[in-house]
Amino acid sequence: MSALHEVRLRRTPEGRPREDDFVCVPAEPLAADAGAAALAQGQTLVKVHALSLDPYLRSAMAGRHLSGAIQPGEVVRGEGWVEVLASGDARVAVGTHWVAACGWRNVAWLDAATWAAARPIDQNIQPRTWALGVLGMPGLTAWAGFTRLAQARAGDTLVVSAAAGPVGATVGQLARLAGCRVVGIAGGPEKARWLREVAGFDAVIDHRAGGPPELRVALKAACPQGIDVYFDNVGGDVLQAACEQLAVGARVVLCGLIAQYSGAAPSGPNPALFIRARATVRGLVVYDHWDALPQMQAEVGAHLRAGRLHTREDLAHGLAQAPAAFCRLMRGDNQGKALVLL
Ligand SMILES: NC(=O)c1ccc[n+]([C@@H]2O[C@H](COP(=O)([O-])OP(=O)(O)OC[C@H]3O[C@@H](n4cnc5c(N)ncnc54)[C@H](OP(=O)(O)O)[C@@H]3O)[C@@H](O)[C@H]2O)c1
Repeated sequence: MSALHEVRLRRTPEGRPREDDFVCVPAEPLAADAGAAALAQGQTLVKVHALSLDPYLRSAMAGRHLSGAIQPGEVVRGEGWVEVLASGDARVAVGTHWVAACGWRNVAWLDAATWAAARPIDQNIQPRTWALGVLGMPGLTAWAGFTRLAQARAGDTLVVSAAAGPVGATVGQLARLAGCRVVGIAGGPEKARWLREVAGFDAVIDHRAGGPPELRVALKAACPQGIDVYFDNVGGDVLQAACEQLAVGARVVLCGLIAQYSGAAPSGPNPALFIRARATVRGLVVYDHWDALPQMQAEVGAHLRAGRLHTREDLAHGLAQAPAAFCRLMRGDNQGKALVLL
């Protein structure tokens, strides 16, 4: 694909997103004098190396996310790994690499407000795509949820859903390293294999192998003493089934609601389950934890380098593939952190 393209939301998806909810179109390059004017006004030109596909974007397309709405006709928002080609901003040097809200484009002009929220990619992060996954926002979500909210202790049984994604897999492995017994809930045999054989989970339940009754039976069998920590990435029936197995004194971290991002009616557990378990329930918003990004990158980075913690990336190639890759993520078919390499 030639230099300048962008992916726009054609219409608000109904239910699970479809590829034709998006359109990839050429973007007009700026003429030389307009480019010079943009630089003079403090704008910065970047090349996008990789796009991060994240479930919250589906919520934003429905106007339900706290980061704001993505309207039909707009370029799909989202962060990527970018390299600075020309800079009109003294804080941003040419040739440096950042995570920034570039949108689904292969080349982008970014303004000062965008840079205020951008994060330089530490030179120790290799490959740089990890700055979008295990050492980026999803990794921070996992680290903050586990270390700051879950209050897990060695010997606890921790259950995590969407266990094979960048959030879930990192939570589970941090828990294993802290001496917990770790049970993952994930969809399909390949995710279960990776979680057991590579990520070192003690047990994995395939929630796509049956309905809610089978999930209940499997959770009971995998957690005979109950669940001490439940890290929820899904909501709906999975949250309900896990809360039925909480041990006394359990902690529940509510992180994601992917079961309802594509429009399913909100549903959730009876509060009686929390009373019975004397449970502590905490909501997690990663934006509250940016202060800990360097600490998370140092700790999780050390685990990765030592081979104690593993991550997996689900790579699509080329901007035009971004809609298909996003639909794949929202069907749960991704095997690891969903990215588009440009
Ligand atoms: N609170 C925060 O600040 C925060 C920050 C980042 C992410 N999150 C949330 O954390 C969760 C995990 O994020 P991630 O980036 O690691 O994503 P991910 O796990 O790579 O992808 C989402 C996974 O959700 C699972 N899933 C379960 N039920 C589903 C359903 N009904 N429809 C579609 N997928 C379903 C699928 O895996 P299986 O089939 O294997 O279950 C799918 O692969 C998401 O809910 C996300 O929104 C929250």
